Amino acid sequence: MKLAIVGSGYVGLVTGTCFAEVGHQVICVDNDLKKVHQLQDGQIPIYEPGLEELVKKNVAAGRLSFTASIGDAVQQSLVIFIAVPTPPQPDGSVDLSFVEGVAREIAVHIKEYRIVVDKSTVPVKTGEKVAQTINRYNPGADIDVVSNPEFLREGSAVEDLMKPDRIVIGVSSERAVAPMKEIYQPFHAPILVTDLNSAELIKHAANSFLALKISYINAVAAICEASGANVERVADGMGADKRIGRAFLNAGVGYGGSCFPKDISAFIRISRELGYPFHLLEEVEKINANQKERFLKKVREALWILRNKKIGVLGLAFKGNTDDVRSSVAIEIVKQLLAEGAEVRAFDPKAMEKAESLVPGAKMVEKAEEVADGADALLVLTEWTDFKSLPWLAIKKRMLSPLLFDGRNLLNPEEMRSLGFTYTSIGR
Ligand code: UDX
Repeated sequence: MKLAIVGSGYVGLVTGTCFAEVGHQVICVDNDLKKVHQLQDGQIPIYEPGLEELVKKNVAAGRLSFTASIGDAVQQSLVIFIAVPTPPQPDGSVDLSFVEGVAREIAVHIKEYRIVVDKSTVPVKTGEKVAQTINRYNPGADIDVVSNPEFLREGSAVEDLMKPDRIVIGVSSERAVAPMKEIYQPFHAPILVTDLNSAELIKHAANSFLALKISYINAVAAICEASGANVERVADGMGADKRIGRAFLNAGVGYGGSCFPKDISAFIRISRELGYPFHLLEEVEKINANQKERFLKKVREALWILRNKKIGVLGLAFKGNTDDVRSSVAIEIVKQLLAEGAEVRAFDPKAMEKAESLVPGAKMVEKAEEVADGADALLVLTEWTDFKSLPWLAIKKRMLSPLLFDGRNLLNPEEMRSLGFTYTSIGR
């Protein structure tokens, strides 16, 4: 099928590429001409495992192309996906101006039946507004608006898209169902067809629930610390119950990224507007913010004064396997350390370039081991699997004092202690 994807960021690029991979004819649109040219040359602006090969393969096969022209894309494609950013605003709501702008641009080019699909994460009732907008700028346009939320995790986005748990399709008319099912048929996943508003709510409700699981286990971790229990064993025991599940019960410095913080505050905001203030989610946010503070408190307690202390930081990305530093808790912690006068040397396998401008006071080093040189303490802030196999004994020898704070429960406590580290982690 001929498909257009408007917005070639994480979601748009991965979605478009995977659609091409299963045989659809895909045009990806972006208003950033430099990015379009880069993509046409096979340069991928983000790090996402497996993506580069797939882009190259599908461009070469003639199934994937890039353009800056929405007009061309709308003309050539039956289904147009909107995958533009919906950034957070200071009051917790999301800025929907890119979605609205694209809806207007699409509207003027529609000449025959088109399905306009919202992939961007948006508050409930946005689809209705997209339909109204298209009709305002092109009265009588023959369209159906569909909500088709994405559930991609950065770092495993290609895999998540190729092997989804489920596909959610929210429609306002039966006519859009068959083409939407046809698009997703090659992915062999259960397809859930709902009304437009329910599909939009599924996304916010699902992400908020996952964030709730993380805050829940982080709160349990605090109780484990106070009582001498081990949060990992508690999570194993809880997670073995199929109704609960072990996933997203990993205690740490808190959740970050471009989705959870934004989606939870947007959901809180929209629920308040709809007359049901979602206080439970307000608590989820509070626990998350507090988690970072609790971690910093442990560092302060050990070092007493942070001013002029050399602190090595492993991990800057908001989680492992990505170069994304948006709303990264690691970055927030580094900022705080710098604000308190510490000297920070940091390493991340992929995210240093993007992190540099956010924490200009931190020195980025080329090899993980170098963060330890003369360090008073070392902090693990991102769950990169690579960190597990670092030469920890050699790292310890490079440090001034062997204080190791593992903010992701990534390392084995007994092993680290047997190497001579004074090891502290979360809830164990
Ligand atoms: C999330 C959702 O998982 C995905 O379905 C949605 O489409 C987009 O938002 P993503 O933001 O890429 O994906 O990352 P995710 O893997 O969910 O992790 C989010 C944050 O939670 C990270 O900072 C991670 O470190 C943290 N996390 C995750 C924990 O602290 N503990 C866990 O057990 C799991």
